[in-house]
Amino acid sequence: MSPPLQIDVLTLFPSWFSWLVEERHVANALGGSLALRLHNIRDHSPLKHRMVDDTPYGGGAGMLIRVDVAVAAVEGALGAPLAEVRAQRRVVVLDPGGRAFDDACARDLATGLGIVLLCGRYEGFDHRAHEHVATEAISLGPYVVSGGEVAAMVVIDAVARHLDGALGASESAESESFSPALGGRLEHPHYTRPERFGEWGVPEVLLSGDHGAIARWREEASVARTEAARPRGGSNLNR
Ligand SMILES: C[S@@+](CC[C@H](N)C(=O)[O-])C[C@H]1O[C@@H](n2cnc3c(N)ncnc32)[C@H](O)[C@@H]1O
Repeated sequence: MSPPLQIDVLTLFPSWFSWLVEERHVANALGGSLALRLHNIRDHSPLKHRMVDDTPYGGGAGMLIRVDVAVAAVEGALGAPLAEVRAQRRVVVLDPGGRAFDDACARDLATGLGIVLLCGRYEGFDHRAHEHVATEAISLGPYVVSGGEVAAMVVIDAVARHLDGALGASESAESESFSPALGGRLEHPHYTRPERFGEWGVPEVLLSGDHGAIARWREEASVARTEAARPRGGSNLNR
């Protein structure tokens, strides 16, 4: 069995991740294909009173997480010099200006040796942390959320779905929306009971028992759904 994917999260709010580790597919992967460690950046601060932030040079609103604090947190949490960590791990800063997170990125991260996630707060990290501490930056999308924690949870959730044992026997990430198996398309729509709810029925073909016809319908519906999503501003399909 291959070693678990090690994900180290550096955050000022480690307790926020407690719901995530209870989520079924993340919990399924933990102790098997996934090892998740949460580190409080503040615990590694080399500064007085475990300070982590400071005001920006040049003035302006907000505070920045200092670069010396970021380096101390990475080295303290991983127990190795920064250069060694960077050589062996993907050190990802969550950043609105980063690479747009998508299925390919999640699959790619899931096959790596290990990931360190740097969660910004306030105005984010001193930019030298982006340049010299992180090996890459990932963005949830073209908008700003209040901290990197939400973004890190999205990354962990999506990555975990691609790890062994995360999904139940009846589920698979192999043919989900955006997967290579679907050529990057959206999955077909799904329906369940009741067969009729007021005026709302389900496509007749799904009730026919004709597996060939159902497969053809699903393929066509996947294409149509993908095409319909493209013109929508901000769809992942436009990236
Ligand atoms: C309030 S934001 C800082 C925004 C920054 N001042 C700017 O305008 O680009 C604080 C932190 O939230 C995280 N964050 C905010 N939006 C994000 C996004 N779209 N994707 C990933 N992380 C994000 C980053 O870690 C960031 O450092």
